[in-house]
Amino acid sequence: MPRIAVLTSGGDSPGMNAAVTSVARNAAYYGMSLIGIKRGYNGLLSMSEKDVYEMNLDTVLDLADLPGTYLRTARCPQFMDPAYREQAAANLRKMNVEGLVVIGGDGSFHGAQQLCNLGIPCIGIPGTIDNDLPYTELTLGYDTAVNWDVEAVRCIRATSRSHDRPAVVEVMGRNCGDVALSTAEATGSEIVLVPEMKWDIHDVADRLGKLIASGNTRATIVVAEGAYASMAPFDVYEFLKPYGKTVYPGQKMDAHLLASSLKYLCHGAEVRATVIGYTQRGCQPTARDCAFAFEAGNMAVILLKNGISNQVIGMRNNRTYHTSIDTALSETRNFKESLYNLINSL
Ligand code: F6P
Repeated sequence: MPRIAVLTSGGDSPGMNAAVTSVARNAAYYGMSLIGIKRGYNGLLSMSEKDVYEMNLDTVLDLADLPGTYLRTARCPQFMDPAYREQAAANLRKMNVEGLVVIGGDGSFHGAQQLCNLGIPCIGIPGTIDNDLPYTELTLGYDTAVNWDVEAVRCIRATSRSHDRPAVVEVMGRNCGDVALSTAEATGSEIVLVPEMKWDIHDVADRLGKLIASGNTRATIVVAEGAYASMAPFDVYEFLKPYGKTVYPGQKMDAHLLASSLKYLCHGAEVRATVIGYTQRGCQPTARDCAFAFEAGNMAVILLKNGISNQVIGMRNNRTYHTSIDTALSETRNFKESLYNLINSL
């Protein structure tokens, strides 16, 4: 019986379990046995019994709807070292694994690319809430994170309106502003700040002040966690110190300091901050993410069955497709600048 393996790697994302279930169902359908590898590439190196085991379809079937990743996940710095990658490839050969499905983000795909170079057939499925893989319109977890963030902004807005308070809402996304942009678009938020675009706190305060003056006392500022890096220089310590805020010399900007700074730049407006954090990563996957996971798992197993390797699954023009890992990793991002400008100009 041919044997394949599956692992999840990097930050977990809603839909990873659904993809594992899909891989397991397709493997069973095509008469393949399936090895589950726990804790990403670390499991491949440790090879301990608790990290590497034959997956039982009956157990896997009920995982699909669950958030998180049953296989656990990890980042594996050792995989940067060629000696460890060779060890991992040797371990897979020892187990007679003929193909590996890697569910993760770009770091995980680099690992898969290296394993392919060592003769291990690999297929990648994009799993990250960040949506930072340019070759695909959708990564598993992105739709879920945005839906969760939209619900959060709606809740925050209800209380913001009750109290006439503007809100700063920080969402995840690492160096990618897609989660923030889509959340702001879907909630009609008045201001969005992303790592891809330079911004100045004085401009933001100016816009917020005008919104308040025009009667919008509950304006929402959606800020991507990576957006502080694209902020024009602003010494938050020097600015906030005279107001008696607890802030340290050289302290970096964050959502709470941004809200405090905007408060004083906007003549005392009660700006409040919420950091949505890990809730957006650990919530139940949406139908869209689960549907993509279903198709991606199917395509991954069929590719391996047909002897096709070094591929990643993606979504283009709303269709599931595959392309080579090399091509996928060489594509550059095309940030939706006109949407960003539209949101910030209304
Ligand atoms: O890449 C997914 C992600 O959730 C990012 O949005 C975030 O910056 C990062 O992972 C957080 O990583 P960690 O789980 O190590 O805190």
